[in-house]
Amino acid sequence: MIASSALTPEELSAERSALVLGTMTWDDTQPEVNAAALRAGLDAGITLLDTADIYGDGASERAVGAALAELDDAERTRLRVQTKCGIVRANRATGVGTKHYDSSPAHIAASLAGSRERLGVETVDTLVIHRPDLLTDPETTVRAFLDAREAGHVGELGVSNLSVSRAQAYQAALRRLAGPESRLACVQVELGLHHRGLVEAEVLANHTAAPATGGAVGLGQWCRDEGVELQAWGPLGQGRYTGRAATESAADTSDEATVADTTQVVAELADRYGVSGEAVVLAWLTRLPWGVRPVIGTRAPERIAACAQQGRAAEAMTTEDWHRLWTAARGEKLP
Ligand SMILES: NC(=O)c1ccc[n+]([C@@H]2O[C@H](COP(=O)([O-])OP(=O)(O)OC[C@H]3O[C@@H](n4cnc5c(N)ncnc54)[C@H](OP(=O)(O)O)[C@@H]3O)[C@@H](O)[C@H]2O)c1
Repeated sequence: MIASSALTPEELSAERSALVLGTMTWDDTQPEVNAAALRAGLDAGITLLDTADIYGDGASERAVGAALAELDDAERTRLRVQTKCGIVRANRATGVGTKHYDSSPAHIAASLAGSRERLGVETVDTLVIHRPDLLTDPETTVRAFLDAREAGHVGELGVSNLSVSRAQAYQAALRRLAGPESRLACVQVELGLHHRGLVEAEVLANHTAAPATGGAVGLGQWCRDEGVELQAWGPLGQGRYTGRAATESAADTSDEATVADTTQVVAELADRYGVSGEAVVLAWLTRLPWGVRPVIGTRAPERIAACAQQGRAAEAMTTEDWHRLWTAARGEKLP
């Protein structure tokens, strides 16, 4: 077992990278591909890896563990690992069972034990509750997390894909049980040019074009006010504005002409700023005043390097450019 990083919270926050490297597609049969992605991530200054117990039925965690084991101590110490639990799939091979959400103490303990084993770590730096389990109240989940923390199995708690009120309930339980200075490490939600609900709901409040956000409206500002990191998954829109053919993404329901127009605006701004298209797409998120930390899911070294230019893009992006991107992705003018 490799001990987790021994940095203090202050050191860790000083060393927090702008981007998180997502490993959902890491496959434990391709160690050299994962190693190249990790190398590109380190070169890009990345300090946090994101995985989950269900990614590839544990293959992603095994792949991350194997890649970390190849690093020298100095590089390993720079990296933190965040995993998720709380989704239980039907058996993939047999189809038996029903996909469900489970944040009960028993499930958290079992999932965490499996994650630690696969990752090869004594302590998982952050455990994220993947999706809310309505049958387990937040306080029960927080108690289970605190027991695991007491045992040295986990450092921090995060939550994902939830409403503001549920995030508030976790945060309140953490404060009640662990002290007023306690806070969630992160809230992770889907957010990007292709998935703009949290942004549009703020600006188009009381407008007929206001989107349905399922109770997540206000999450960005809440995170900022509470000092909770807001992580955006799917931040590249799976590549739809940077050259990925629409046909490659079965789940893509965006209108083709809108994607084409947005791709053109992204390319034009990238050219003007002297950065990659990926950097422009990510800068649309990091320009928000919510401290958004994109969780990039690319495994391609050159794309990881392209993403790392987002800081330059964010500096160059004017308010008008930001709205131009938003308007293009909406496919219609703002009211
Ligand atoms: N909390 C949650 O419920 C949740 C859900 C989903 C994901 N996540 C996390 O968030 C991370 C990112 O999510 P994501 O993968 O959906 O987001 P993403 O970063 O928007 O998309 C990455 C995917 O798009 C592909 N891609 C990007 N640009 C491309 C291009 N120009 N041409 C072709 N392919 C391109 C990448 O392939 P290449 O590898 O070839 O670049 C990769 O498969 C995941 O790894 C995971 O850690 C969390």
